[in-house]
Amino acid sequence: MSAEPQTTARPRPARGEQLDLEIDDLAYGGKGVARRDDGYVVFVAGALPGDRVRAELTKSKRNYAEARVEQLLSPSPDRLSPECVHDGEPCPGCAWQSLPYPRQVAAKQRQVDDALRRIGGLDGFELEEIVPADDLWRYRNKLEYSFGEREDGEVTLGFHARGRWDLLVDVDDCKLASEAGNEARNAVRDWARAEGLPAYDRRSRRGLLRNLAVREGHRSGHLQTRLVTSAARFPRPPVDLHTVIEGPSGGTDGPTGVLGRERISEELGGLRFEISHSAFFQTNTTMAERLYGVARDYASLRGTERVFDLYCGIGTIALTFARGAGEVWGLEIVPDAIADAERNAEINGVTNARFRAANARTGVRPLIEEAGKPDVVVIDPPRAGLSQKIVRRVIECEAQRIVYVSCNPTTLAPNAAQLTEAGYRLRRVRPVDMFPQTPHIECVALLERE
Ligand SMILES: C[S@@+](CC[C@H](N)C(=O)[O-])C[C@H]1O[C@@H](n2cnc3c(N)ncnc32)[C@H](O)[C@@H]1O
Repeated sequence: MSAEPQTTARPRPARGEQLDLEIDDLAYGGKGVARRDDGYVVFVAGALPGDRVRAELTKSKRNYAEARVEQLLSPSPDRLSPECVHDGEPCPGCAWQSLPYPRQVAAKQRQVDDALRRIGGLDGFELEEIVPADDLWRYRNKLEYSFGEREDGEVTLGFHARGRWDLLVDVDDCKLASEAGNEARNAVRDWARAEGLPAYDRRSRRGLLRNLAVREGHRSGHLQTRLVTSAARFPRPPVDLHTVIEGPSGGTDGPTGVLGRERISEELGGLRFEISHSAFFQTNTTMAERLYGVARDYASLRGTERVFDLYCGIGTIALTFARGAGEVWGLEIVPDAIADAERNAEINGVTNARFRAANARTGVRPLIEEAGKPDVVVIDPPRAGLSQKIVRRVIECEAQRIVYVSCNPTTLAPNAAQLTEAGYRLRRVRPVDMFPQTPHIECVALLERE
């Protein structure tokens, strides 16, 4: 942007306009930030601090605009050349791969602090040093790919280009997946090409192949593939699971047909877990262990406590805590995940864990009636965090400690603020880097009753 001081407010730039910008910061979510001297902010996808870029505006609002890089005029001297490249383009899933790793973790640490202070109005807490990732590549145990077609009709299988639902990047080697995971994906694409099967087209609602999920037990070596299609009649696929979606929604829910292996197993924290295809499992097995280690440290269990694990999934946190607690109770909305949690308790010989399938919104009060009030509550919700009503239900638990595992500091912040208004204090926060090369942030927060 122009360095000349402006005395009068300039009109905001229009959508489609191109601007030359200097990027000086990273926003939550991973976009580069440029500031005009009158305070107008432009968030630029694909830009990093120190870059000078020509950017095209994709959205223009009163106080800010969004843009994407049209041309990298002069790259930041810190930029690394991308390692994960598909069809000659940097991988859209590895948005931060050109940022040196120490800068990635520093940005995440700062963004957690910023969210808690600015959005939550919180202070007085100890922000502990981020736990860096052990593996910077090939750490994901689950990846989801979409099918598309090149202009000549050849089927492609990969990721959507950044911000483009209509443009697909064909993937041969995803550097966040293992070699075995890549082989499985490529085998499905080769099969689709050999059989001449068309990709599903969302606009015309024609075609067949929608998406493919590949999940692996990094320690068990198990592999589970799930293919989602639009119609049931076609050659048997070389995958474990096949889900047919007849409607136009394109989601991966509502299976109407499933073939093959339903569950894989994985070892985590010295325990063995069975995972149904419909259940959540942390996508970075090694760092999930570190994450749960921080959560367990914050819970300060002495062996007698009653612990509620809300949003428990297949029971990983509850069962990791069970050995150090009096009893643990898990609550989770997906019934298959609860069935897994019960099976996992049995497999691991854990006898002091109980699981209930319920929505946290309606299930906490009945849980208190059944189990009594807990000493410690663990919360690990999806990115949207807790509604105000669910926070009220958590407050009714009157637990001494709340351990909040969050994959989104911008929703942790208002939840933590509501808890502090009800008499809790935010004591400690520790980010854990589960997702190197991407802007995604995980952290654990400890709140204690005053
Ligand atoms: C981020 S995952 C955490 C799971 C588990 N703690 C783990 O580490 O594997 C969030 C879980 O919350 C569940 N969930 C989502 N909405 C819910 C709700 N309203 N009530 C209860 N569970 C819910 C999801 O199915 C998912 O298993």
